[in-house]
Amino acid sequence: MIKAVPALVAVLLLLAVAWVAPVIGATWLIAVAVPYAAFVLFVCGFVLKVVSWARAPVPFRITTTCGQQKSLDFLPHARLENPFTGWQAALRVLEEVVLFRSLFRNVRMRWTRRRDLVYESSRWLWLAGLAFHASLLLIILRHLRFFLDPVPALVLWLGRLDGLFQLAVPTILVSDIVIVAALAFLLARRLVDARLRYLSLPADYFALFLLLGIVLSGVSMRHLTRVDLVAVKELAVGLATLAPRVPDGIGTPFLLHVLLVSTLFAVLPLSKLMHIAGAVMSPTRNLANNTRARRHESPWNPEVEVHTYEQWEDEFRDKLVAAGLPVEGKQT
Ligand code: HEM
Repeated sequence: MIKAVPALVAVLLLLAVAWVAPVIGATWLIAVAVPYAAFVLFVCGFVLKVVSWARAPVPFRITTTCGQQKSLDFLPHARLENPFTGWQAALRVLEEVVLFRSLFRNVRMRWTRRRDLVYESSRWLWLAGLAFHASLLLIILRHLRFFLDPVPALVLWLGRLDGLFQLAVPTILVSDIVIVAALAFLLARRLVDARLRYLSLPADYFALFLLLGIVLSGVSMRHLTRVDLVAVKELAVGLATLAPRVPDGIGTPFLLHVLLVSTLFAVLPLSKLMHIAGAVMSPTRNLANNTRARRHESPWNPEVEVHTYEQWEDEFRDKLVAAGLPVEGKQT
C-alpha cells in the first residue's frame, strides 16, 4: 500500500497545479507549452527507445514456444505456438497485439489448504487488460473529433456505437464505464494481492492513477462540470496546425485533463508503457524458431582457428597407416 502513496501524491500535485494555473495566469503554459513539450518528449523518447532496441544485436533465436515445433511430417506442427517462418511469427505477434494471447495462457500457482499445489487459469487479468485497451483505443479514436475538421464519418459512427445505451443526456458511453471498471480492477489487484503488492513499484501505481485521473476528469467534463466544446476544438485545431490560441471557456477541469494527458505522454518512453512497442519488438515473440533447419552464427564471435579431423589425419596419416589403423583419406 505504501508504494502507492507517492504515486497518488504525484497525481494530486498535478491536480493542484491545474487548479492554481488559471489563478496565477498560467493557462497558456498548461494549455499550449506543456502539450507541445510533452509531444516532443514523447516522439523523441519513443523513437530513441525503438532505435536502441532495433540496434541491439540478436544473433540467436530465443523464441518462446509452447507447442510442437516443425519436425517430421507425421507430427502436427503448431504453427502459431511454435512459428517456423517469418509469416507465422508475424501472425503470432498480431494475435498477441489484438487478443493478448500470452496473457490468456497465464496460469496462477497456489497452495490449497491441504497443501496441494494447484495451477489455475487467471483469465480475469486477461479480460480486464483487453477491456481496458479496447476502450482506450475507442476513446482515442473518438477524440479525433476535436482535432479534425470535418470529423471523419468513422469517428462519428464510433461515437454513436459507443453511446448505444442512451440512458442520460449527454449519452453515457459504454467505453467510459468499461475503462473505469477495468482500471479499478487493475489497481485493486495490485493493492489486494499480497504478492503483487510486494512486486509493484510506485511507477506501476503512477501509470494507473494517471490513467484513472485522465478518464475521471474526462467523464466529469462530460457529465458534471461541462466544458465549452467549441473552445476545446478551437484550441485543439490550433495546437495541431501550429497556430495555438487559448480561447475563453477553457476551464480548470479541461486544464487538468490536458496536464494529465501531457504527463502520460511525456513519461511514456521511460516507463513500462513502452510495451506498446515492446510487444512487437521482443525477440522472444518476433523470431521464427528454425534453429534445427538453419544454423545461426553469432556475427561478433572472434575467428577461432580450428584443426579439423582431415587436417589432423593429413598430419599423422603415415603413422596411422604404419600402425595399421584405418584412415579416411588417401593412403599414399
Ligand atoms: C490518452 C489520451 C486521452 C484519454 C485517455 C482521454 C480520456 C477521456 C475520457 C474517458 C473522456 C470521457 C468522455 C469520452 O469518453 O469521450 C474524455 C473526455 C474529454 N476529453 Fe479526453 N482523453 C485524452 C486526451 C484528450 C485530449 C488531448 C484532449 C484535448 C482536446 C481531450 C479533451 C477532452 C474533452 C473536451 C472531453 C469532454 C468530452 C465531452 O464533453 O463529450 N482529451 N477524455
